[in-house]
Amino acid sequence: MAVTFTLNGKATTVNVDPQMPLLWVLRDTLNMTGTKFGCGMALCGACTVHIDGETARSCITPVSSVEGKKITTIEGLSADGSHPVQKAWIEEDVPQCGYCQSGQIMSAVALLAKKSRPTDADIDDAMNGNLCRCGTYQRIRKAIHRAASLQAGG
Ligand code: FES
Ligand code: FES
Repeated sequence: MAVTFTLNGKATTVNVDPQMPLLWVLRDTLNMTGTKFGCGMALCGACTVHIDGETARSCITPVSSVEGKKITTIEGLSADGSHPVQKAWIEEDVPQCGYCQSGQIMSAVALLAKKSRPTDADIDDAMNGNLCRCGTYQRIRKAIHRAASLQAGG
């Protein structure tokens, strides 16, 4: 079945099983491997992307459900790592193994789009579906505050 959507600003059509998870389409059909597979059951957040601006777990999203929608992945934030959240992540040296981090960043970007100056409680609330086995949570929190400042021009 042909499914058409906008991926990181580009019209994209794939011919795949309509039930195939969006995560497989991104990684295996489109070779966009920035979005990670963790649990496959909507439990870890490693596969987080944005669908029409909202965070979504691409591992449990059938590709047929994104027909006509706008999808953003980590590759779509910037061509060169210059998005304020990416910059803040580098400045705070957030990643350890790195595996969870694209999902963490996508959740942080969605949070900051809604709340330009999130509190610690806002951050904990927005990020609690993104697990990090390496325990980088404190640095993630600091990086989100830093990204808020960068976005505000500070
Ligand atoms: S891989 Fe999708 S939530 Fe874990
Ligand atoms: S940095 Fe290793 S799982 Fe998060």
